[in-house]
Amino acid sequence: MKACRFPDGFLWGSAISAFQTEGSPLKNEWCELASRGKIFDGSRPEGAVNFWDNYEKYIALMKEMNHNIFRMSVEWARIEPEEGLYDESALQHYRKIISAVSASGIKPMIDLHHHSNPLWLARKGGWCNRSSVVHFRRFTNKVINSLGDLTDMWLTINEPVVLAVTSYMLGLFPPQKKNIFQTFKCIDNLAEAHVAAYEEIRDAFSKNNWPGPKVGFAKHVRCFNPCNPASPLDNLAVKMHENIFNLDFFNKITRKTLTLDMVCINYYTSELVKFPLDREASSDLPKNKLGWDIYPEGLYKVLKRYWDMFHLPVYVTENGVCDDHDELRPLFILDHVYQMHRALESGVDIRAYCHWTTMDNFECMEGLSARFGLIHVDFDSKELKCTIKPSGRLFGEIAGANGITPAIVDKFKPDWHAP
Ligand code: BGC
Repeated sequence: MKACRFPDGFLWGSAISAFQTEGSPLKNEWCELASRGKIFDGSRPEGAVNFWDNYEKYIALMKEMNHNIFRMSVEWARIEPEEGLYDESALQHYRKIISAVSASGIKPMIDLHHHSNPLWLARKGGWCNRSSVVHFRRFTNKVINSLGDLTDMWLTINEPVVLAVTSYMLGLFPPQKKNIFQTFKCIDNLAEAHVAAYEEIRDAFSKNNWPGPKVGFAKHVRCFNPCNPASPLDNLAVKMHENIFNLDFFNKITRKTLTLDMVCINYYTSELVKFPLDREASSDLPKNKLGWDIYPEGLYKVLKRYWDMFHLPVYVTENGVCDDHDELRPLFILDHVYQMHRALESGVDIRAYCHWTTMDNFECMEGLSARFGLIHVDFDSKELKCTIKPSGRLFGEIAGANGITPAIVDKFKPDWHAP
């Protein structure tokens, strides 16, 4: 095979979010939901990997996997446990974590919001209440003025459309509602909140004379294909899905000015679409443990599409697979890195790849039993024993070589062929 080399300075790493990894009892919606036994396997975020206390152990493992970028989030309920009341010691602890990441030569990328709301906000109606925008602006101002000097890479909100749809349409994420009007209201407020946070971050950087920043939000993008490619109606249904799920949020936040310095893509799967709005997995494609299609070419397609749309640097901020025994992940990584390289060769300015996720952690709704990590965590051991999986070793070598080389393929997956 021909080596897939990436440009000098390309960033390789992984991503986590706070409530999925910190492992502390907090006054947030997820701890509350889990305390009511609503997580499918009965587990609780408090039982997660204790990143809060053990961050040094995890950073050392990331170094072993040759990371030079790490995406993490801060937890709103920890920093502002009651409305308007900030916990300075929590901010100081985040300073320690982010500084330790940088000190080990890994670039931190920080999310202000990743799927988790403080209970006080939830009690006011969460993102369906217009006041959420004001609260998020104030929270952003506090965080950015406390931590903004530590990195120039900031994400406002992770997967706003997924958050709205899963919380208010599918009735899964808290507050588990099924109301289409609330779904759209939530999306509108999240869009306003992104714009407000973008302004706050830019203002703080310019007032403090800090270099940068680069600000974006993480967009979960699905690759939609028609159930019957010859059917004009199924093709129309694909367009409708594209608009609602993939494009509308971008339109909302760029309506007045372009409040984006980079395009951040979370890509996992594709779906077949049948008129009017039905979606299903394709029977032909391999599936992950949760039944999601594995469709690496979709990554190439979405990277190209968003590059053509914005011509802004593109960051892959999540891409990964639920796979308990690390049987699918090595191939998943090779195929997706290969497709990312294809996009790069066709002119897309891709700057980074963050695998989801660093270590097995608390998966939204599925709990601790759905494993997405490069690092295996033994949840039954008292010290939460960690072992880098074979896929983590493979990823580390790709990161170290800045691409896929024939030697790496021979060592980890000799039967792999570039598609
Ligand atoms: C979310 C993560 C989640 C992952 C796997 C992404 O959409 O950002 O929080 O764990 O998907 O389901």
